[in-house]
Amino acid sequence: MTSTEGRDLPSRLSRRGLIQRLALAGSLAGISRDAAIAGSVSLPDNDLLRANPERFWSRIRTEHFLLPEWRIFLNPGSLGVVPKSVLQTMVATLTRGAEYATDDVLRWGYERLDGERLEMAEFLGCKRDELAFTHNCTEAMSIIANGLDLSAGDEVLITNQEHGGGTGCWRLKAARVGITVREVEIPVSPRQPEELTDRLISAIGPRTRVLSFSGITSLTGLILPVQQICRAARDKGVLSVVDGAHMDGQVPLSLHQLGCDYFAGSPHKWLFAPAGCGLLYGRDDLLDRLWPCVASSGWDNKTDLHAARFMMVGTNNRSTIDGMIAGVGFLKSLGEQVVYDRMHHLARVALKTAQSRSYIEVITPDDSRFFQAILAIRFKTEKLDALWAALKEKKISVLGGQRLRLSFHVHTRPSDIETFFQVCDRVLGG
Ligand SMILES: Cc1ncc(COP(=O)(O)O)c(C=O)c1O
Repeated sequence: MTSTEGRDLPSRLSRRGLIQRLALAGSLAGISRDAAIAGSVSLPDNDLLRANPERFWSRIRTEHFLLPEWRIFLNPGSLGVVPKSVLQTMVATLTRGAEYATDDVLRWGYERLDGERLEMAEFLGCKRDELAFTHNCTEAMSIIANGLDLSAGDEVLITNQEHGGGTGCWRLKAARVGITVREVEIPVSPRQPEELTDRLISAIGPRTRVLSFSGITSLTGLILPVQQICRAARDKGVLSVVDGAHMDGQVPLSLHQLGCDYFAGSPHKWLFAPAGCGLLYGRDDLLDRLWPCVASSGWDNKTDLHAARFMMVGTNNRSTIDGMIAGVGFLKSLGEQVVYDRMHHLARVALKTAQSRSYIEVITPDDSRFFQAILAIRFKTEKLDALWAALKEKKISVLGGQRLRLSFHVHTRPSDIETFFQVCDRVLGG
C-alpha cells in the first residue's frame, strides 16, 4: 500500500469528523477554528489588488502569515516564512499520524509520492519521474556529486560565488576520489549575461566533466543566464549541475527549458515550504547514471521507481512534504506572476533607495535581468557596530556584515524597507 492512499482519508471521513480534525489542527497552530475549517486559502479579492495593491499585500501579511507586527524580516533568502495554510496542513498531517486512524503509515521514506511529485513537477516544468524530494538543497547536491562516476583527474568547474551547500559535495569528492575542483571567477556586477557565460564556458578544459553553478547566487542574488550556460556546456560535452536553491519560488522556472542536466532546489526558501524540504531533478536520460548515497529496498529499481529511488531513505516526517505542496498551492492561489512581480517591485524600491545613499555602494546591477528579489549592498565604512545594535533594537532581520543581503517576499511591507534605511541614515549619517 502506498501512503499516497493515506492522503485520500479526509474524503472518507464524515464531514463532522473532518471539521473536528481541522479545528484541532487549527487550534494547535494558533489559527481560528473557522480559518482551519476553511482549509483552502481564502484571499482578498483581486479587485483590491488592482485598486489598492498596498492594502492587498498588507492583508496578505496579516491574514496569511504569523509574522508579528514588530518583526521586520528582510531575510527569506536564508529561510522563508511559512504561511498559515502550510502550518495548518502540517498540523493536520501530524494529527492524522498521531491518531493512527489510517491503515497505512503516514510518513515518507518508503513511498513514491506520485501525486505530490506530479504536482511539483508540473510547477517546475519537468516530468514526475525526473523528480525526487530530499531534505534540502545540500542533500540534493550531494546526491548528484556522490552519485556521478568520476575518476581521479576528472575536473569539476564551479564559480567563486558558490554557497558551501553546492561545493562541499565536490570538495569531498576531490578529497576522497582525487577529482579536481577548479574555481572560475565571475563578475559580481556584470553588464551583459554573456560575460558570465563566456567566463564559465571558456574555462572548460580537456578534463572538465561537470560545470556546477548557482542559478541565483547566495552572496548577492545575482541571476545567471542558466539556459545559455547549460546549452553551451552540453555543446562541449560537459554535464551541467544547477544549484537552484534560490530559484524555485523566486523566479519562474521550467527545468526542461533551462536544459540543465541536474538541478537541486530549496523550496523552504522562496516557495513557502517548511524547513527540511529539498528538490532533486535529473534529466530523463541522465538519471540512471546517478548512484544513490542512502539506500534501502528499491535503490536499484530504475525501471519502476525512476527518481523515486532517491527517496527510499527510511522513515521521515510526512508533514513537511504535505506542507511543501500546500506552499505551492499558496503561491498558485496568489498567482505565480503576481508574486514574482511583487517581490521584484520591492527589490527595485530598495535598490533605488540604496542608490540615493552616499554611504552605500550598491552591488546588485541596476538591470532586471540580473536580480529578482535580492539586493546586495556594501557599506563604505567598516565601523558598523552601532548599526548592528540599532538594527537589532528595531527587530530587523538581515543577512551579512559590511556586505549585506536584503531579500523580499510577499509579506515584506514597504515600511520595512523604509525603516531599514532610516536606521542606516540615523547611524551612518546619511
Ligand atoms: C546557493 C545555495 N546553495 C545551497 C544552499 C543550501 O541550501 P539548504 O540549506 O536548503 O541545503 C544555499 C543556502 O542558503 C544557497 O544559498
